[in-house]
Amino acid sequence: MNEPSVIFVVAMAENRVIGKDNVMPWHVRSDLKRFKALTWGKPMIMGRKTFQSIGKPLPGRESVVVTQDPNFHAEGAHVVHSTEAALERARQLAVELRSDEVAVIGGGEIFRQMLNEAHRIHVTEIHAKPQGDAFFPELDPGQWVEESRTKHQAGEKDDHAFSYVEYVPRASSDVT
Ligand SMILES: NC(=O)c1ccc[n+]([C@@H]2O[C@H](COP(=O)([O-])OP(=O)(O)OC[C@H]3O[C@@H](n4cnc5c(N)ncnc54)[C@H](OP(=O)(O)O)[C@@H]3O)[C@@H](O)[C@H]2O)c1
Repeated sequence: MNEPSVIFVVAMAENRVIGKDNVMPWHVRSDLKRFKALTWGKPMIMGRKTFQSIGKPLPGRESVVVTQDPNFHAEGAHVVHSTEAALERARQLAVELRSDEVAVIGGGEIFRQMLNEAHRIHVTEIHAKPQGDAFFPELDPGQWVEESRTKHQAGEKDDHAFSYVEYVPRASSDVT
């Protein structure tokens, strides 16, 4: 089997906010359903703060949690101490799970440090500009291309309208 590809899965507001006080500052049920579909059956890499904000390992997936704390333990999760170790562990788990993808699910610190590893970025762009304290990194247009964008009106359980946007690395032959 080929090396699993690395996808990012993120919900980001128009001002790049992804979180405030360790939660997402919106309620968009449609995004949670999409998150589940995109991560199901896959290893997920996350920072310790994101893991604690979720509160537990999510069913149907394997959680790889990055922390510098040598004493951090979380039942049912795989704890590692660097982003490199996270990728290595997640790749092993992908083989065990027969998954062709590893999902990086945040938060801001982990997205920023692992951006160079991503093969595809699945963004739910929330059409709002909330205050926040965690952000998704800027994507350099010389490195990333918007491959698709579909806008959706807010459903009954969504605070805001949103768009599903996919970014892929610009092929090296495109770079002038
Ligand atoms: N909208 C979304 O899609 C989305 C997704 C995920 C999270 N979020 C939001 O994002 C916020 C959390 O993001 P954040 O940036 O504050 O935190 P984070 O990235 O979730 O976690 C940061 C923590 O990860 C550990 N860490 C980071 N880099 C490391 C490295 N190189 N080696 C070892 N450990 C490392 C450290 O843990 P220790 O301090 O334990 O050492 C650090 O404090 C929350 O508001 C959350 O709700 C939003």
